[in-house]
Order: sequence, then C-alpha cells, then structure tokens
Amino acid sequence: MATAAAKAPALVLPLVLVLSLALAPPASGAAAGGGDCHFPAVFNFGDSNSDTGGLSSLFGAAPPPNGRTFFGMPAGRYCDGRLVIDFIAESLGLPYLSAYLNSIGSNFTQGSNFATAGSSIRRQNTSLFLSGFSPISLDVQSWEFEQFINRSQFVYNNKGGIYREILPRADYFSQALYTFDIGQNDITSSYLQCNKSTEEVQGIIPDLMERLTSIIQSVYSLGGRYFWIHNTGPLGCLPYALLHRPDLASPSDGTGCSIAYNKVAQLFNLRLKETVASLRKTHPDAAFTYVDVYTAKYRLISEARKLGFDDPLLTCCGHGGRYNFDLNIGCGGRKQMNGTWVVVGSCEDPSKRVSWDGVHFTEAANKFVFDQIVAGALSDPPVPLRQACHSRGQ
Ligand SMILES: *[C@@H]1O[C@H](CO)[C@@H](O)[C@H](O)[C@H]1NC(C)=O
Ligand SMILES: *[C@@H]1O[C@H](CO)[C@@H](O)[C@H](O)[C@H]1NC(C)=O
Ligand SMILES: *[C@@H]1O[C@H](CO)[C@@H](O)[C@H](O)[C@H]1NC(C)=O
Ligand SMILES: *[C@@H]1O[C@H](CO)[C@@H](O)[C@H](O)[C@H]1NC(C)=O
Ligand SMILES: *[C@@H]1O[C@H](CO)[C@@H](O)[C@H](O)[C@H]1NC(C)=O
Repeated sequence: MATAAAKAPALVLPLVLVLSLALAPPASGAAAGGGDCHFPAVFNFGDSNSDTGGLSSLFGAAPPPNGRTFFGMPAGRYCDGRLVIDFIAESLGLPYLSAYLNSIGSNFTQGSNFATAGSSIRRQNTSLFLSGFSPISLDVQSWEFEQFINRSQFVYNNKGGIYREILPRADYFSQALYTFDIGQNDITSSYLQCNKSTEEVQGIIPDLMERLTSIIQSVYSLGGRYFWIHNTGPLGCLPYALLHRPDLASPSDGTGCSIAYNKVAQLFNLRLKETVASLRKTHPDAAFTYVDVYTAKYRLISEARKLGFDDPLLTCCGHGGRYNFDLNIGCGGRKQMNGTWVVVGSCEDPSKRVSWDGVHFTEAANKFVFDQIVAGALSDPPVPLRQACHSRGQ
C-alpha cells in the first residue's frame, strides 16, 4: 500500500555533492542544498507517536476500533489509521515499518521500528502494569538496534534463503534514515506519576538531553549517518494530560490548552534544538534534521475549525465529560452504563477530529502534521524530508 514513489538518482558520493554544490545555485530555503537522498531503509525510535506494533506484540493488541479508517482492523497503532512515521515511509517509497518486537509476519528489509507506546528516554521506576509506561525506554531500544544489526547480518550471511528477503543488506545501515520521536512520556510521567511541579519537571530536561545525545551517538557509532529528530508536541492540549493534572489545566490559552504544560514542552524543544545543533557540530560527516512537530500540531489545534475540524479537544474514541474522554476507560475499552456493558467506540467521522483517543492524534491530524513538515518549512536546517541527508554542519 506504500506509494511507489519514483526514486531519483542517489547523490551519496561526496564528489557528486561537492560538484553539485559548486555548480548549482543554492536551492532556495535549503540550508545545504543538494538533490534527493537515497534512503533504502528507516530505523525508528520512539513512543506511541510512532509505534507501529511494538507494544501490541508484547502486552496485547491495541483493540478495535483502532485501525478502522485505514487498515480496516487494529494494526498495532493507537490511531484510527496511519501515523506520521507511516506517511514518512510512504513518501520515501518504503513499506510501512515492521515493529522489531513483532516476530510474526514482519519484514525488516527496509527498516525496523523500535518504538513502543509509553516509551520514555529515561527508564521508568515502575511497571507498565502499575503506570502504563513502557519498559522499552530509549536505552533498551538502542540495545535492540545493536542486536538487530549483529544478528540480522549473521543470519543474512549464514542462513540465506528467506532471510535474504526479510532482512536488510549490510550497506543499508549507513544509508538509512534514523528517525526519533521521544520525550513526551518523560514529561507526562513526571507530571502524572510523581506529581512534580513545573519547575521540577523542567529540572529533568538537561538529563534527558544527555541521555538522548548518548543514544544518538551510539547509533552513529554503529554506522547511522542521517538523523531526523522530531520535537515534542503541545502536551498541554491533550485531554489526558488536562484531566490527570486539573491543577495545571488553568490558566489555559485561548484554545483551552494548559499554559504551564506547554511551556515545559517548549523548553524541552528549545534544549532539543540546541542538542541537535551540537550533534551536528560534533559529527560533521553526519546529517541531523530537527523537526518542529510542536508548531504543526499547535497550528492544527489552534486553527482546527478554520481547517475543517471539530473542537480540537474533543476525543473521537472516548466517552464522557468535557473532552468526551474518561481517564479510566480508554478507546476500545468496556464501560458499564445503566447496568449494561458498552464498548467505548469511535465517533462517526474521525476525519473531523484532531484527538483520536485523548492521548493520540487521528490519521487526519497526523496527515496534516506530515504535510506541514515534509517540505522542510518547520525543520532546522529547512531541508525537505527527501533531502535530509544534507542537513550537515557548516
Ligand atoms: C528513578 O529513580 C532514580 C533513583 O532515585 C532517579 O534518579 C530517576 O530520576 C528515576 N527515574 C524516573 C523516570 O523518575
Ligand atoms: C555486536 O558485534 C560486535 C562486533 O562483533 C560486538 O563487539 C558487540 O558486542 C556485539 N553486540 C551485541 C549486542 O551483540
Ligand atoms: C520484504 O519486503 C521487500 C521490499 O521491502 C520485498 O522485496 C520482499 O519480497 C519482502 N519479503 C517477503 C518475504 O515478503
Ligand atoms: C499534586 O500537586 C498539586 C499541586 O502541588 C496538588 O494540588 C495536588 O493535590 C497533588 N496531588 C497529589 C495526588 O498528590
Ligand atoms: C442512563 O440512565 C440515565 C437516567 O435514567 C439517563 O439519563 C442516561 O441517558 C442513561 N445512559 C445511557 C447511556 O443510556
């Protein structure tokens, strides 16, 4: 179902790059110029914003009506359809990413997804059964990746056969795009579980940046060269965040988002942008693109009605209250009402909603976000997705 987008000739040879930079005027808007890249694979790290089946394969499948809009059945995603990472894969002419943890029917030829819903940069000091946060923190995802390289190459070379059809070639690891979308659960878990104050939550950001840097450096040392790093969204606009910490729900902005919550996300993003810039300096032979999905998501939420959406804080798959969302019963869960059990189902038209289940965006919202970021307008440097191999230091 992925679009077979025509592949432009790969411009990966340094000589070709130097020539094209010397001869061609700089492409307008593109910091470093250059043509389309050749990304034969994508390796993704993150949380539910980009989980394509990791948590589902471990802890039970995301229930219906997840997946209803696009896949026609649950597809390991906490969404009615595709996620931003799915639109990224489509746009690069690649198949949707199989979750590394999904041992049944997966095909890793053109990438693998290490993200699981509920993942954070730091390890959680609690269990998924108690808190809902995933034990597959970013450091665990990087160990998985190291195993993935070693074992996929061993099997590819020594077993052959079918394995050559479902595992990547060795040279893909240095040509692949490495995508990251993580940090949301570090902020929310501090706020929700530990009942920390905004100042305390802000205080963990330097530690998060150190850990993220070290993980990205470890992927670099394993051969990764092209990095595409999403910042975190306006978490103060998510119904679950607002309901978990009513003390932070006001003061709110004109849209109904928590100002304090969003300020923490913005500070995280400011530091992340600096962190990515400093990685770019440390590794001039690698390309790092910082992608401001916060602005895309906030634009969608604050201008929802103008853009053809309903109330942006109204959950599609939920039940009850101001946000059509009940913290105790998630999308697809069962709720007893007047003595009968009812399933918490989808609204009639998910394409009109921004929030799918109070935590995650709908496919329509994800598509909007993807369309905002794909051409580079919200990136630093402002290179399009297809040219993200050129986001180098000066
Ligand atoms: C877990 O506990 C350690 C030791 O107390 C602490 O340093 C760390 O910040 C905690 N992690 C989280 C995610 O709260
Ligand atoms: C992967 O292989 C390298 C080189 O053989 C080795 O140093 C490293 O420990 C291995 N890593 C894992 C996770 O097996
Ligand atoms: C796995 O995907 C690749 C393309 O990414 C395809 O060429 C290959 O046939 C697929 N393998 C199987 C077993 O379907
Ligand atoms: C969490 O902190 C807020 C603000 O300090 C306070 O109003 C609230 O009662 C605390 N909640 C819990 C469960 O401790
Ligand atoms: C449950 O009963 C109350 C009171 O009779 C009624 O107002 C409400 O609409 C009922 N809810 C459902 C879901 O049927």
